[in-house]
Amino acid sequence: MLKKTFIHFAEVTRAVACVSALVFVSGLASVASANDEVGKQLFLKGATPACAICHTLDAAGAAGAVGPSLTELQPDAARVLNALKNGIGQMPAYTSLTPEQMQILSEYVAKASRE
Ligand code: HEC
Repeated sequence: MLKKTFIHFAEVTRAVACVSALVFVSGLASVASANDEVGKQLFLKGATPACAICHTLDAAGAAGAVGPSLTELQPDAARVLNALKNGIGQMPAYTSLTPEQMQILSEYVAKASRE
């Protein structure tokens, strides 16, 4: 599990890797909250095109207005995952993300939309 998580760190931005590594070293946060940070960075810039361009998500400081506000929609993880896998309307499918990245991002959006 830890090993897999570190592979994700390599795939997202360097800044995230540093923050997440610090979190691990400090031992203060669980893997779940490290995943939250990875999910947030995927939302803001890791996924291409970035979700934040089109969606508002208050918890991530995103204010896109092309798609629905996720803070208002509060989709569950399965609904986010479906949009990522298949695309919906003007939103493209995110085939460049690994299944694990899609999972982390979906869980993050579901959780962050309720914050
Ligand atoms: C190019 C703009 C664009 C980008 C980028 C984009 N979306 Fe969307 N998204 C939309 C639009 C438009 C809709 C509404 C589609 C419809 O209902 O016809 C939507 C719908 C959704 C929905 C609701 C799906 C449903 O079942 O109603 C979710 C969840 C979502 N997007 C998440 C994301 C996430 C996560 C990302 C980043 C990986 C992302 N979007 C990137 C435009 C975008």
